Amino acid sequence: MAACWVHCSLLLLLLAFTPYSGTLKCHNGTIVKFGSGLTDQVFDWSTENTIEAEPNGICQETFLIVDVGPKSLLVGSKGSGLHNGWQENQVNNYAQRPGILAAMFTNFCEQSECNNATSDEVLVTHLRLPPSFDTSSIKCSVCLTDESFCPMNLVFCPKNTACYSSDITIKGGGVDKIFRVEGCLDATAQNIFKGEEKLGVFSVSEKRRPLTADSFSLLFAPGTSLAWVLGLGLFLTLYLTGFIISDEAISL
Ligand SMILES: *[C@@H]1O[C@H](CO)[C@@H](O)[C@H](O)[C@H]1NC(C)=O
Ligand SMILES: *[C@@H]1O[C@H](CO)[C@@H](O)[C@H](O)[C@H]1NC(C)=O
Repeated sequence: MAACWVHCSLLLLLLAFTPYSGTLKCHNGTIVKFGSGLTDQVFDWSTENTIEAEPNGICQETFLIVDVGPKSLLVGSKGSGLHNGWQENQVNNYAQRPGILAAMFTNFCEQSECNNATSDEVLVTHLRLPPSFDTSSIKCSVCLTDESFCPMNLVFCPKNTACYSSDITIKGGGVDKIFRVEGCLDATAQNIFKGEEKLGVFSVSEKRRPLTADSFSLLFAPGTSLAWVLGLGLFLTLYLTGFIISDEAISL
């Protein structure tokens, strides 16, 4: 009895003074980065900060890339998260090129500081990037921002895409932001994230906006563009003819 008391107390003392025994340490931090060509270049990002995993939590890192062509966005989070079926080193491609691209890397892992990627290479090398694509005669507004205002920027879209505009809210893992996303999206896709609302540690809600640029897609749609160009040509011809006639009339 006495022997056990001594042994057991010693054991308890040992356990009490072993730092973080049984708890996981995870790298912790967030990044929101706008750029151009983030789909073609690796962006270095890591954090020395660590935290203890939350109760029942494991370590996680989640990288999300959204690219609308001229502009890209990287949202990253490292910290603690709940397992919820997320795997180690998983890549999900959502929207694909041609058009808006959206993809995610998640690493939910159970060793201390295992969420240790030092760049978004883990995601960038797995993006599906077709080498080239044909342009259509549809024009759409292109924008990617966390501000409420989108500067006017119309571009000709790749073939088989349609104008897309939405507000995307990303919350969780230390991030809480609303992004305006506008561009050309695969015409068969209803949304960017295939209706998924849980992307790794992030909760995502995607709200389509009414398209102000839709008139442009109609205007430049293949069926009408020729008529429109012919109409403009006719107008210009008449205008120029009229101009020349009146010019002559004045000089007479
Ligand atoms: C990152 O974490 C994994 C899993 O714990 C480990 O195997 C690997 O050695 C770590 N890499 C670095 C650079 O620390
Ligand atoms: C990690 O750090 C961020 C700040 O960068 C913080 O907002 C977040 O709550 C922290 N904890 C976890 C578990 O991610």
